[in-house]
Amino acid sequence: MSLDQFLSRLDQLQSDAESAFTSASDAAALEEARVTFLGAKKGQLKDIQKMLGGIEKADKPAAGAKLNAVKSAINSAFEGAQQNLAGGDDSGADPTFDPTLPGTRPSLGHIHPITQTNSHLTEIMGRMGFEVAEGPEVEDPWHNFVALNIPEDHPARDPLDNFYLATAKDPSGKSSVSAGDEGSQLLRSQTSTVQIRVMKEGQPPIRIISLGRVYRPDAPDATHFPMFHQMEGLLVDTNVTMANLKTVLRVFANNYLGEDVEIRFRPSFFPFTEPSVEVDFLWNGTWIEFGGAGMIDPNVFAAVGYDPEKVSGFAFGLGVERLCMRRHGITDIRDLYSGDLRFLKQF
Ligand code: PHE
Repeated sequence: MSLDQFLSRLDQLQSDAESAFTSASDAAALEEARVTFLGAKKGQLKDIQKMLGGIEKADKPAAGAKLNAVKSAINSAFEGAQQNLAGGDDSGADPTFDPTLPGTRPSLGHIHPITQTNSHLTEIMGRMGFEVAEGPEVEDPWHNFVALNIPEDHPARDPLDNFYLATAKDPSGKSSVSAGDEGSQLLRSQTSTVQIRVMKEGQPPIRIISLGRVYRPDAPDATHFPMFHQMEGLLVDTNVTMANLKTVLRVFANNYLGEDVEIRFRPSFFPFTEPSVEVDFLWNGTWIEFGGAGMIDPNVFAAVGYDPEKVSGFAFGLGVERLCMRRHGITDIRDLYSGDLRFLKQF
């Protein structure tokens, strides 16, 4: 056989094998084609290899080189076909995957508007030197009422106005909570409890805020919710006056709501402050009540062991939801707690 004939037989074999491998539609068909072309005994490649013996000695190197090239081309055609049947590539990845398509963005959570508001309030008050203090949401009546000068028969202690916790009752009748407790624990109805905790633990001068949840059994409507947040402020030092209180609240309101916001005090009553006021801010032409405030009542100082003749101070409690809602134009408090992402994503 001449060299030319040998080479063209090889070319023919390669193209036959390639088309047989690519057209094999399943593993069995591919195996059949493999035996036909690459079979160790009767494979067509083997047959041609045997013909190498009949080639002129001078042509043998060229014939051998071509044989090797065709052999490896057929082998890799076989492997390619095998991979295609197995699903595209070695990794077993989805053959329909298109890396050039834009990806799907993972949906990242974000910070709830009330938490954002708390951070903002903390930042503003921090610039006026107020540090953050915390207290528990499950409180005993001593911190929630007694130390705050709210006597036993005061309507604020009515079970209908508070979430008393039946499970926290001490079966022996003696309270296990802490000295001075009586009755069952409750979900705190105001953050003023934290005033007591801070004053019990430290000495004046004190300048703290406390932001957190409070609970009252109110039926939910556009402006009420059984759980809401307050920002309590407490400043205790010597010679503290109501002018200091008003200035702190005005500076706060100007920072949070706007430079043009005005502040107004209306006489009020809280057992733990004397005198007591309601705090209104004039915002967009309307006076809106944001909370209560006043000078610390001497009975409260006495309850925490301070000398009312030596120290004076003020406290205030503002509604966080109210502040947040006014600033962002939210008209229904329930939207904040419905968990509706279409609403929450706007903040
Ligand atoms: N604790 C009062 C309330 O919840 C607000 C307040 C705080 C009033 C501090 C005076 C001083 O209504």
